[in-house]
Amino acid sequence: MASTAAILALILLLLPPIALAAGDLNGFRATLTRIHQLSPGKHSEAVRRDGHRLAFLSYAATAAAGKATTTGTNSSSVNVQAQLENGAGAYNMNISLGTPPLDFPVIVDTGSNLIWAQCAPCTRCFPRPTPAPVLQPARSSTFSRLPCNGSFCQYLPTSSRPRTCNATAACAYNYTYGSGYTAGYLATETLTVGDGTFPKVAFGCSTENGVDNSSGIVGLGRGPLSLVSQLAVGRFSYCLRSDMADGGASPILFGSLAKLTERSVVQSTPLLKNPYLQRSTHYYVNLTGIAVDSTELPVTGSTFGFTQTGLGGGTIVDSGTTLTYLAKDGYAMVKQAFQSQMANLNQTTPASGAPYDLDLCYKPSAGGGGKAVRVPRLALRFAGGAKYNVPVQNYFAGVEADSQGRVTVACLLVLPATDDLPISIIGNLMQMDMHLLYDIDGGMFSFAPADCAKL
Ligand SMILES: *[C@@H]1O[C@H](CO)[C@@H](O)[C@H](O)[C@H]1NC(C)=O
Ligand SMILES: *[C@@H]1O[C@H](CO)[C@@H](O)[C@H](O)[C@H]1NC(C)=O
Ligand SMILES: *[C@@H]1O[C@H](CO)[C@@H](O)[C@H](O)[C@H]1NC(C)=O
Ligand SMILES: *[C@@H]1O[C@H](CO)[C@@H](O)[C@H](O)[C@H]1NC(C)=O
Ligand SMILES: *[C@@H]1O[C@H](CO)[C@@H](O)[C@H](O)[C@H]1NC(C)=O
Ligand SMILES: *[C@@H]1O[C@H](CO)[C@@H](O)[C@H](O)[C@H]1NC(C)=O
Ligand SMILES: *[C@@H]1O[C@H](CO)[C@@H](O)[C@H](O)[C@H]1NC(C)=O
Ligand SMILES: *[C@@H]1O[C@H](CO)[C@@H](O)[C@H](O)[C@H]1NC(C)=O
Repeated sequence: MASTAAILALILLLLPPIALAAGDLNGFRATLTRIHQLSPGKHSEAVRRDGHRLAFLSYAATAAAGKATTTGTNSSSVNVQAQLENGAGAYNMNISLGTPPLDFPVIVDTGSNLIWAQCAPCTRCFPRPTPAPVLQPARSSTFSRLPCNGSFCQYLPTSSRPRTCNATAACAYNYTYGSGYTAGYLATETLTVGDGTFPKVAFGCSTENGVDNSSGIVGLGRGPLSLVSQLAVGRFSYCLRSDMADGGASPILFGSLAKLTERSVVQSTPLLKNPYLQRSTHYYVNLTGIAVDSTELPVTGSTFGFTQTGLGGGTIVDSGTTLTYLAKDGYAMVKQAFQSQMANLNQTTPASGAPYDLDLCYKPSAGGGGKAVRVPRLALRFAGGAKYNVPVQNYFAGVEADSQGRVTVACLLVLPATDDLPISIIGNLMQMDMHLLYDIDGGMFSFAPADCAKL
């Protein structure tokens, strides 16, 4: 028996990873909807939600770096969903759990791993966002608690899992961060996502939530507890619609269905691991250059590169953060380039009541008759020659309008990274109207402009 298994394992190892991925699992698809529409007046909220998000990511990164005083150095990364507050400008996906199945929306988060839902008996659960049903483990024939000596429990951060563990004890967790926490225990259930159904998926059954307004999360990170790791999908893709006219569902595709068919325009760059933060489960890319109009900014390897100190730097692609955050030096270059290109416009200052928590804002000229402001083009370059010509609405938008709907203040939707989290983050606004492929097995991140409604 053992030797057969060993030979099989050897044969599998010899096969190219692509062949494995293709045979593993049929693809499945689901849809995403944006939780909070961004319209003039709503940007401050988005920046505030991002603030909570960044605090969570910072906490997670600190723990992953082994720097949190309460966290052991070999937790596989935090990935808690201790989180995402009220959705952080994120996207919901409908899933169902249990037998019979109960449907509910969860936040889709490439920045974390655990799958997590509210469970009865709930001592402290949030009634919002509606509909936010609570799972009833006692009424499901497929529900099963995971033991605390199993591998899934060991993947939880040390600080969150039980201090003492024996064969009969359940895997209780309590994730804390900042002022929030979520407590419960790990279990397995039958999970349905879109048109795919999967037995025995490990998830967190939360019975006590000290974090606001989230009924659950599905982590799509690279850690072992995430949906994509548990189902070994190998790759996934999504396309976020900026035009939400007909209800705004955006497609997300897993496994063999996840591919970019827009061949001629596909750009690709390697997905990286942070060499100084091996436990980090983020999707890192190598941002090597930025152009504002025809000006190439003086980006060097250290502008957005990994750093041996602090939280490791680098650039991640994250579905759960709304705006884009650039490492301070890189941001300063971008800001200066925009300022010099837009010098003929009046910039608003905090003193003039602007900037909605944004940094670089302009007032289109009074009496300009609503004439369009010419905004400089923005392009991001990645290792391997990939270039992203960012659609203007993905980085510059009206944040205030008059009663006739004319934009009165427009801002750059890019901000400097915070001191707590000196990592560059490509947020979901900058991902819109693009088909993004996270090819985990192939180690590549690819993207192409797309009409998301037609995918
Ligand atoms: C989830 O289901 C609800 C209720 O059936 C529906 O209104 C909503 O549009 C669905 N959301 C997604 C992302 O499919
Ligand atoms: C949670 O939702 C309620 C009601 O929608 C809202 O008033 C509150 O501000 C939300 N909490 C957070 C942290 O966003
Ligand atoms: C957990 O404990 C039980 C009972 O002692 C044992 O049978 C099982 O193999 C253990 N599981 C792991 C992953 O150690
Ligand atoms: C944590 O590290 C110790 C020793 O460094 C090792 O024995 C243990 O298996 C590790 N645990 C996990 C979950 O990786
Ligand atoms: C196992 O752990 C649980 C919770 O920590 C405890 O209540 C129980 O007494 C323990 N059982 C044994 C056999 O040690
Ligand atoms: C979880 O931790 C929070 C904050 O530390 C605490 O208030 C709460 O009582 C804990 N809940 C459980 C079930 O341990
Ligand atoms: C900038 O502001 C000044 C003073 O309010 C005004 O005279 C000028 O027309 C404005 N320029 C533009 C381009 O809007
Ligand atoms: C990023 O790309 C640049 C240019 O191709 C290269 O010099 C650098 O080593 C890359 N960094 C990493 C971490 O791969």
